[in-house]
Amino acid sequence: MNYYIITYGCQVNHSDSERIATVLEKMGYKITLKLDKANLVVVNMCSIRQSAVDRIFGQSQKFNKLKTLNPKLKTLLTGCILKNDFKKFKNHFDFILSKNTLSHWPKILKEKGSLIQPRQINKSDCQYLKIKPKYSNNFSACVPISIGCNNFCSYCVVPYLRGPLACRPYKNILKEAKNLIKKGFKEIWLLGENVNDYHSQKINFAKLLKITAGLNGNFWLRFTSPNPKDFSDELIDVIAKCKKITHYLNLPVQSGDNKILKRMNRNYTIEKYKNLVKKIRKKIPDITLSTDVIVGFPGETRKQFENTVKLFKQIKFDMAYIAKYSPRPQTTALKLKDNVSKKEKKRREKVLFEILKETAQDQNKKYIGKTVEVLNNKTKGRFLIGKTKTYKTVKFQAPSSKFQNLIGQFVKVKIIDAMPWGLKGELI
Ligand code: 5AD
Ligand code: SF4
Repeated sequence: MNYYIITYGCQVNHSDSERIATVLEKMGYKITLKLDKANLVVVNMCSIRQSAVDRIFGQSQKFNKLKTLNPKLKTLLTGCILKNDFKKFKNHFDFILSKNTLSHWPKILKEKGSLIQPRQINKSDCQYLKIKPKYSNNFSACVPISIGCNNFCSYCVVPYLRGPLACRPYKNILKEAKNLIKKGFKEIWLLGENVNDYHSQKINFAKLLKITAGLNGNFWLRFTSPNPKDFSDELIDVIAKCKKITHYLNLPVQSGDNKILKRMNRNYTIEKYKNLVKKIRKKIPDITLSTDVIVGFPGETRKQFENTVKLFKQIKFDMAYIAKYSPRPQTTALKLKDNVSKKEKKRREKVLFEILKETAQDQNKKYIGKTVEVLNNKTKGRFLIGKTKTYKTVKFQAPSSKFQNLIGQFVKVKIIDAMPWGLKGELI
């Protein structure tokens, strides 16, 4: 019995797939990387933008063809599924199952020929996180700290998909982290939709980060994502002081215009954002700063977009995930007219991308001549590729006989060249 798993979307979804793998493998399934060898196809979906949903829908239609070749093939859809899409996907999957019921999947998959679970709205819990994940590699792991979100940014469907915030007890998080370190993992990512909302008993996110970073062992601690609205001085100090916490922040700004931010329900002003960046850069000068931004939010005028352009030029981000606004069912922004044309959204995306390319290159140039520590994560041709503590991608040559021994290891690399999206170096 083989299963083939396709995961879309964020790191949280990828981490969830590791728990799904545990459950399926306990049932006797083995993973296959070949779709035509699978008895069970699992799709862990994401609905954050319509383009992702359309892609999955296109793919699910192909499964029907596969089934004519292999009538015993079963298909299972899980993950973030919207109410409207639920009806649409019903005809294309044998099972549509919530991750909240993951521990019951073996029973469901064995006993029933097919099952579509009624969609649970506004319900989230962390119970399924108790399942031990089958980590997808042996040196870097994601550890979810919460599920869901209470912020209700007006464009975002996450609170409707994953439900309200549910925090994982901090002792469980520490137990998983300790176990990873014991196994020799070198990188741990703490994950949450907004890590700054985390709380478990008296432990807020800054404290959780500090305690985790205080565990014995040789590892880097990363996290994503913090909402700028509640980024505390306590958190800045923890990142600045704890050596194992890496100097990389994804700080989603979403827009450079105050009126748009207000309509997005982001609860901060651009002045507050810039002030926060200033404070962070003062205490952590080598911080790598990335952001998420949406272009073409309903009613975004050219002038308001220019404020985002200005912000990009001022902040000089190292990286940015630029998204074209996509209207989402159930969200409050859906009531606003999506009046920025596709062409204009594309233009705005390109304008920001061109600025980013320059600022990213400028930030990377600062590394030339420096020696940095790199955690190797893959090979490409004759090169090893890894990440610095500041989450910069570094490519360098090494004897291919050493490749396998060096994956998942820290090495020292001297940087000799800088491109916008990465650095080139020489192994020391
Ligand atoms: N349209 C476009 N981008 C979106 N994002 C979230 N919702 C939407 C939407 N409706 C982006 C935000 C968020 C990232 C995960 O996805 O920038 O930070
Ligand atoms: Fe969505 Fe806002 Fe929550 Fe992030 S903080 S998941 S953008 S509602």
